[in-house]
Amino acid sequence: MDVAFSGIQPTGDIHLGNYLGALRNWVRLQDSYDAVYCIVDLHALTIPYDPATFAAERLEAAKAVIAAGIDPDRSLLYYQSDVPAHAELGWLLGTMTSLGSLNRMTQFKDKSDQAGEFLGLYAYPVLMAADILLYRANAVPVGEDQTQHLELTRDLADRFNQRYEPIFPLPEAIIPERGARVMSLKDPTSKMSKSDPSETSRILMLDPPDVIVKKLGRAVTDSGTDIRYDWDEKPGISNLLEMLALFTDRSVEALVAEYDGTQYGAFKRTVADAVVAGLEPVRAKYADLDDAEVSQILARNAARGRDRAAPFQDEVMRAMGLRHQ
Ligand code: AMP
Ligand code: TRP
Repeated sequence: MDVAFSGIQPTGDIHLGNYLGALRNWVRLQDSYDAVYCIVDLHALTIPYDPATFAAERLEAAKAVIAAGIDPDRSLLYYQSDVPAHAELGWLLGTMTSLGSLNRMTQFKDKSDQAGEFLGLYAYPVLMAADILLYRANAVPVGEDQTQHLELTRDLADRFNQRYEPIFPLPEAIIPERGARVMSLKDPTSKMSKSDPSETSRILMLDPPDVIVKKLGRAVTDSGTDIRYDWDEKPGISNLLEMLALFTDRSVEALVAEYDGTQYGAFKRTVADAVVAGLEPVRAKYADLDDAEVSQILARNAARGRDRAAPFQDEVMRAMGLRHQ
């Protein structure tokens, strides 16, 4: 069976972009792949964080991922730092990563403005490559913003295969056709993000229904009754159309045909109702989860992860001349 791997950072609450761009595919791939998913806590340390609340944030992220539909008995879900092979392979791959390739990564430029220029942030994409290659993953379900990191991962896999032994498959990004880049409700020309200071710019996956209705009611659109799918001229409406399409399983074209001419206020309410209904099972599942039980599941899975990673890691180290033969 092919392997799927992905990760999400436990910083800030999971929003609609994370859900539509990544988590829905994580859930879908559970059926056809051997799926490994990580709460990437080591990645989260690359921006300022509070160690006093970090444990609770990691647990929240794990609960949210399970609530979104990840079955921790079927998929291997654990905290990245519980399996040291991630960081170890990150080091090994770092020995083959040129500064030139890291300098091309746009995320470092974006994040270092706020977080400062630190080695961990710079090497972030190398650790991500290690996450993926550790399990020889073939498929990586992510949002569009991760494509550059995936390209670097493939380059590193290819370099390793040529320099040492051909052991890594070249992983493919699995990016949804719609929802790969959900935009901010306040500024539909920039992506919805956990780090946006405005809370009304994003809908959280676990927002209560009245909050979702309020945030969508205030979503920025221009004036008019023109409902068109046109990212240049109508980015706000196009963003809402994609959300509605994803939560109703209908095509954008059919929705445009049905809603063109509808007042924007009424259209936003329609979108809000669909989002509320679509997220209802996630909210219900979340309410049922027990903190202690989830912690136990993750601890158990960490042990499974370590067992599974060990022979893979051995193979890499042997190829690099790091083991007694
Ligand atoms: P992060 O919160 O950065 O750990 O992202 C977790 C996953 O959500 C990654 O696969 C991202 O590509 C995806 N993602 C983040 N923001 C968005 C967005 N606005 N639209 C679509 N996918 C997103
Ligand atoms: N960089 C990803 C993000 O910010 C998170 C991540 C870490 C990841 N390791 C990964 C995603 C491995 C896919 C595969 O969203």
